[in-house]
Amino acid sequence: MIDRSKHIYRHRAADYERLVAREDYQGNLFAALNDIRPLDGLDVVEFGAGTGRLTRMLSVQARRVQAFDIEPAMLAQARINMLETGMSNWSLALADNARMALAPGCADLVIEGWSFGHTVHWHKSDGLRQVDAMLAEMRRVLRPGGAAVLVETMGAGQRRPAAPSRELAKLYAYWREEHGFQYRWIRTDFHFASPEEADELIRFFFGDHDAAAWLSPDQVIVPECTGIWWRQYD
Ligand SMILES: C[S@@+](CC[C@H](N)C(=O)[O-])C[C@H]1O[C@@H](n2cnc3c(N)ncnc32)[C@H](O)[C@@H]1O
Repeated sequence: MIDRSKHIYRHRAADYERLVAREDYQGNLFAALNDIRPLDGLDVVEFGAGTGRLTRMLSVQARRVQAFDIEPAMLAQARINMLETGMSNWSLALADNARMALAPGCADLVIEGWSFGHTVHWHKSDGLRQVDAMLAEMRRVLRPGGAAVLVETMGAGQRRPAAPSRELAKLYAYWREEHGFQYRWIRTDFHFASPEEADELIRFFFGDHDAAAWLSPDQVIVPECTGIWWRQYD
């Protein structure tokens, strides 16, 4: 059976967009990214861009954002979203995170959000090796002095950070201990328009079990913790 999240990326991109449009209502991610590496004037390459949530955020300040994803349906939704911004310093194209059709040394900043983490669940036997190939691809397209930024879940439905699975805990430790990434975490809470919307969208993405555990009647804010790992390369 196809994995739940893969099914969503393939068939329900518009609903995914409705969910992430409610995420990080306090704008903590944009502030944290600018703190780590001011985005003004940067050439950015984005891996696993999905419906363009980060693409949109980055393109406000960056010189150019070249964004990629493996799912045509997610890119089609991203195109709709990006056209609505009226900006023109972005591009979207199909690519696997491990193989970008880009020349070496074309980016000041490479970034992925909530994409590499899937690999360790989808490929249990060699997930770390596959993520290594993605990190190598990030390194290849970076200019000297460029920075890589990885944004991944540290737990939805909770107020304090904790990796939601053993596989992710291992991946995150690996990034810090073997790849020399620095780490911080932020809150990226969802603020839904109504309790009904909260119930619908949390159930849609996270499932009935998590919806029942996280939501009380009348709840419109759902806490979430997000980790940011970053590293500058010589
Ligand atoms: C949770 S979504 C995150 C999307 C977006 N970065 C965001 O912040 O909303 C994960 C995305 O990673 C993409 N993805 C997963 N594996 C990939 C791979 N090997 N290469 C490219 N994209 C991939 C999926 O298609 C999906 O759009």
